[in-house]
Amino acid sequence: MKNIVLTGFMGTGKTAVGKELARLLDMRLIDVDTEIEVARDMSINEIFEKFGEPVFREIETDMIKKISRNKQVIISTGGGAVLKQENMEALRETGIIVCLMALPETILRRTRSTDDRPLLRVENPLEKIRELLDFRKPYYEKADIVIPTEGKTPLQIAEEIVEKVKGC
Ligand code: S3P
Repeated sequence: MKNIVLTGFMGTGKTAVGKELARLLDMRLIDVDTEIEVARDMSINEIFEKFGEPVFREIETDMIKKISRNKQVIISTGGGAVLKQENMEALRETGIIVCLMALPETILRRTRSTDDRPLLRVENPLEKIRELLDFRKPYYEKADIVIPTEGKTPLQIAEEIVEKVKGC
């Protein structure tokens, strides 16, 4: 079985779905942001604050290339990973790309309770979510499998992914 790569905007449920998938398929879950935080001993917020987004993107690409070398794992990526072609080429070489989709209002609800998304630390996060989603939509849609998540539990979404990857 190839790797399963979860992409999608912040708050679309990549982590929760990744955990269910890992359990259902008995595969290891590797979260790119968590690996970056452990390797740098800094939170994503601190990396953005100290070095800025362009440096974060370089660190993210290095980590994605390293993680992509694994076999038979589930990889959960940060919401901006899809923007760089070299990220997606590395991930696609060993994995099937799945993208989780959600509405801006749902994303706002899911991300509002925590303060760990530097890009959403703005006065009007809903407007920011809409703006980023509009720009990123074509990148998310390049996935092998696109899953609308509205009204579904992480387990239901994971089961749907298991069914769909069988056909890939
Ligand atoms: C980002 C998403 C975040 C994290 C960083 C940037 C983005 O990951 O990588 O804050 O550009 O959408 P999650 O999608 O896991 O929140």
